[in-house]
Amino acid sequence: MGPEVTAEGVKILGAVGRRFHHAFTFREGQIGAGVFERTGKALPEETIEICRLSDAVLLGAVGSPRWEKPGLGVGPERGYGLIRLRKELGLFANVRPVRVFSSLLDSTNLKPDMVEGVDLVIVRELTGGIYFGQPKQLLRTPWGRRAIDTMAYSEEEIRRIVRVGFELARGRRKRLTSVDKFQILRTSDLWREIAVEVSSEYPDVELEHSLADSFAMRLILSPKEFDVVVTESLFGDILSDEASVLAGSLGMMPSASLAGIPGSGNKLFGLYEPIHGSAPGLAGLNIANPIATALSTAMMLRYSFALTDEATSIEDGVDLVLREGYRTGDIMGGGNKRVGTAEMGSLIAARVAG
Ligand code: IPM
Ligand code: MG
Repeated sequence: MGPEVTAEGVKILGAVGRRFHHAFTFREGQIGAGVFERTGKALPEETIEICRLSDAVLLGAVGSPRWEKPGLGVGPERGYGLIRLRKELGLFANVRPVRVFSSLLDSTNLKPDMVEGVDLVIVRELTGGIYFGQPKQLLRTPWGRRAIDTMAYSEEEIRRIVRVGFELARGRRKRLTSVDKFQILRTSDLWREIAVEVSSEYPDVELEHSLADSFAMRLILSPKEFDVVVTESLFGDILSDEASVLAGSLGMMPSASLAGIPGSGNKLFGLYEPIHGSAPGLAGLNIANPIATALSTAMMLRYSFALTDEATSIEDGVDLVLREGYRTGDIMGGGNKRVGTAEMGSLIAARVAG
């Protein structure tokens, strides 16, 4: 359902353009299982080129169960080209905010008073670590099959992502939690060393370290403790899906993947996407939640275009529509009005238009 939710994002950006008098120019590129099945490539060169020529990219989820059978010899490249796209575009900083809309407290799977007011950001390293480290191999040896993945980080890769964490924390509640597996993984030992070094440049931000397993527990037991969380790629992948339970649904979780360190008023090239997958079971049925996409377009306006009021208008639009009781299936609570993907997008666009 990538194309469906992305269409709603474009609709909402159109409404922003009309209200604030901006003209956005859209170019469409293909990625994922569909284009792989038509052309043999999940990420055509043309798509990379379109992204490079743009100021920002809005991405729909990729993936299809047709290509997710264990042991399948041929198929699309890992992650349907998405992880290569992130790498080629230099998008090392993945920012995943977790905000709990108070109107959704009636449909939370957790205790409402535990999640009420949660407002944290997970900063996930995106172009290093175990997704990319070499060697990465599936070996057939005389003694049986064997597989290897490599988690590797350079100090520069760690330093720049940790800086993103500190910069974001500085603009918020000034608390940074660095998540690692200190004393077990060498990459974590280095991670912690660098985090401590960088912290001397940010005396106004309080740095704490948390072990990944213990953090996974604290994130559910006491999520209000956290402000900004910075971690390596695989931990960040897992923990951000866990964090979506706080937000009520994966369909509420936006993300920004940035090619630089956000600071005051700078415009960064970025790719914006919901953190959810392609949900093939929901595709084409007009039932997927487009709010993660809507909130991703707000992040795009903020980080790539420095259009703060415009970004806020989308977030306020989402808040308003939820307060009015409109819900897609994934966030339904008692007494709510169920709407489809396109209706939800139109409602948000209408609130943005004012
Ligand atoms: C995410 C996704 C991706 C990832 C997949 C689709 C490659 O799970 O963005 O969290 O693992 O990074
Ligand atoms: Mg993930």
